Parts: sequence; C-alpha cells; structure tokens
Amino acid sequence: MALMTWTAEQYGTDVGFADDEHKEIFNLLNKLYDDATGGADRSVIGASLDALIAYVVDHFAHEEREMEAAGYAGIGPHKEEHDKLVATCAGLQTQFHAGEADVTDEVGQMVKGWLDSHIPTFDRGYTDALK
Ligand code: FEO
Repeated sequence: MALMTWTAEQYGTDVGFADDEHKEIFNLLNKLYDDATGGADRSVIGASLDALIAYVVDHFAHEEREMEAAGYAGIGPHKEEHDKLVATCAGLQTQFHAGEADVTDEVGQMVKGWLDSHIPTFDRGYTDALK
C-alpha cells in the first residue's frame, strides 16, 4: 500500500515544477517503502534508496535555484531544512551500503513525517514568490 498519496489540498504549492517533483518524490518513496517492507532483495532496496536520495537532492537544488533567482527572503531557513534531511539520508545511505542499517518502516515514516511538515510550511511559503 502506498505510504503517501499526493493531493493538492494537502501538498499543492501552486508552483508547477515543485508539485511535479513532489509527486515523483512520493512515487520513489512509495517504491522504496514497498520494496523495503515487502521483502525485496537488498540490491533492489539499495537501488530504490539511491534513486530516491538522488532525486531529492536534485529537487532541493532546483527549489534553491528558483528561490534565489526570485530573491525569496525565506531561502536561508528553507535551505537549512533541506541540508538537515540530506545529511540524515546520506548517513543512512552509507550505513545501508555498508550492511550496518536497513530501510525499515520507521525510516519510511520518518521521511513521510518530514514531507508532511515541510511541504505545507516551507514549500508553500514560496508560493507567492515563485508562482
Ligand atoms: Fe520541496 Fe523544500 O522541498
């Protein structure tokens, strides 16, 4: 079952590229979660983890470029939030590939909780500047 379902009411920002990329993040997270909780091979889980993290890093960079280009005043705290999640994910990624950690239900819930908080607050904060 999908961990996250994108709806405009809960996650829409009125910024086209952001909504499109958030939907793809949800797809990649759902794939990782299904693989990890459904007993997929470790190599499959690792590939899904790498794909999700790579996409999220690109998405954060895209948002930061757009916020900077628009002169959006809230970019500093927003970027700090991005950097914290990337650091957490990079640590997990390193540990996973070293065989020292698994992608668990708790990992999926942690990322879901971060997105549930970040998109409606930080991402919706740039709507007027970027739409
Ligand atoms: Fe869509 Fe600020 O992450």
